[in-house]
Amino acid sequence: MDYMLIVKNINKTYKGQVSHQALKNISFNVEEGEFTAIMGPSGSGKTTLLNIISTIDRPDSGDILIRGEDPHHLKRAKLAQFRRKQLGFVFQDFNLLDTLTIGENIMLPLTLENERPSIMEEKLQAIAERLGIESLLNKRTFEVSGGQRQRAAIARAVIHKPALILADEPTGNLDSKASKDVMETMQHLNENDNVTTLMVTHDPVAASYCRRVIFIKDGTLFNEIHRGANRQVFYEEILNVLSMLGGNANDLSSVRL
Ligand SMILES: Nc1ncnc2c1ncn2[C@@H]1O[C@H](COP(=O)(O)OP(=O)(O)OP(=O)(O)O)[C@@H](O)[C@H]1O
Ligand SMILES: [Mg+2]
Repeated sequence: MDYMLIVKNINKTYKGQVSHQALKNISFNVEEGEFTAIMGPSGSGKTTLLNIISTIDRPDSGDILIRGEDPHHLKRAKLAQFRRKQLGFVFQDFNLLDTLTIGENIMLPLTLENERPSIMEEKLQAIAERLGIESLLNKRTFEVSGGQRQRAAIARAVIHKPALILADEPTGNLDSKASKDVMETMQHLNENDNVTTLMVTHDPVAASYCRRVIFIKDGTLFNEIHRGANRQVFYEEILNVLSMLGGNANDLSSVRL
């Protein structure tokens, strides 16, 4: 089996006045073409885990393998290159550059790799068509809606065909209609282009678009569930696990239906 991502026995303790073990022996794998959500109460370690996978932060022990390579063992320059080539990021607040057009934003990963302009343009047109955002390419970020910004950010995350898309609360700043558009876009890329995505979310509706949800609690794996044919049924199952997880209901979700 070819795994896009292997997370093996990850431990992470934040040392301060009071030291806190944020991740305890976390292990799981992600196959090529999977679309997976990570859920759990506030403070359970989701962002810590995502930061370690994306190499923004280091584990105390354990291994991360992305396409068979452990980025934490790379030297700085190689690591920066690895991140640029193998990872695509989607953030809650979009992280688009306001001085660039939407199209220029989407092409950024190619610009950083010094791709030829004609090829950049070709790839931009292809992804824009795929996501139905051709009409936005010459606009500035402040001229488009939140959902459109996030779809542009998703186009930017996938344009260079990275191994893995990492998304932290991609619908966190969006209303329910825009959230739906964004999740349908991610689902479309997963189903049609086999894009592999790992997404942290509080939103059970957003998570119901994934094919698997991994739940963490107090830094350990709590449960994982897989989606069948019906998204509504999966949504109910997600709610059930969240209620078992306990914690403050407000921590779990701003439920939008
Ligand atoms: N830089 C840090 N220094 C010390 N403790 C930290 C640091 N970052 C996170 N923590 C602690 O580690 C635990 C996990 O935090 P983390 O941010 O991973 O949680 P989370 O699941 O992403 O929560 P949320 O849903 O609120 O975003 C929390 O108890 C948090 O207080
Ligand atoms: Mg977090």
